[in-house]
Amino acid sequence: MRKVTIPCEFAVFGLDELSAADRQLVEAAIAASERAYAPYSNFFVGCALRLADGSVHIGSNQENAAYPSGLCAERTALFHAGAAHPDLAVEAMAVAAQTGGALLAQPIPPCGACRQVIKGVEERQNAPIRILLYGADGTFVCQGVRHLLPLAFGDEALGA
Ligand code: THU
Repeated sequence: MRKVTIPCEFAVFGLDELSAADRQLVEAAIAASERAYAPYSNFFVGCALRLADGSVHIGSNQENAAYPSGLCAERTALFHAGAAHPDLAVEAMAVAAQTGGALLAQPIPPCGACRQVIKGVEERQNAPIRILLYGADGTFVCQGVRHLLPLAFGDEALGA
């Protein structure tokens, strides 16, 4: 038997400690959460992407009476960017959520399906994405989805 340790590392920042570009991205994610369509869960999530040309694009969760037909904020944003700007890499993404009229104190951890999609985008562009998970008590920042999804399934496993 041998043990394998896969390190996952985050830095935690106060909003005022972030660079101007990162702070702007977090603020865009917070603003996007205001426009989420979440009448079933009342859990409003916003995601903002910074693309390689510096442009910022947002997504929010979009729910449906047939629950599984809805989509998370992260995938709404990433799939839109992949469709509208396929040649621009995603440099960074920020996620924020609110419920009961208050932003969450702890960062929202993206669901497993969204982590897998982030992994796919990183492989498509061959570069990690800077991920900022906003919480009112601190924004967790990591460089690449490997810190959220260790031992991930991807192109390599397929021999692609
Ligand atoms: N949701 C997101 O948009 N992103 C996440 O990372 C987790 C969950 C959405 C899906 C659903 O609309 C609501 O939050 C409750 O799960």
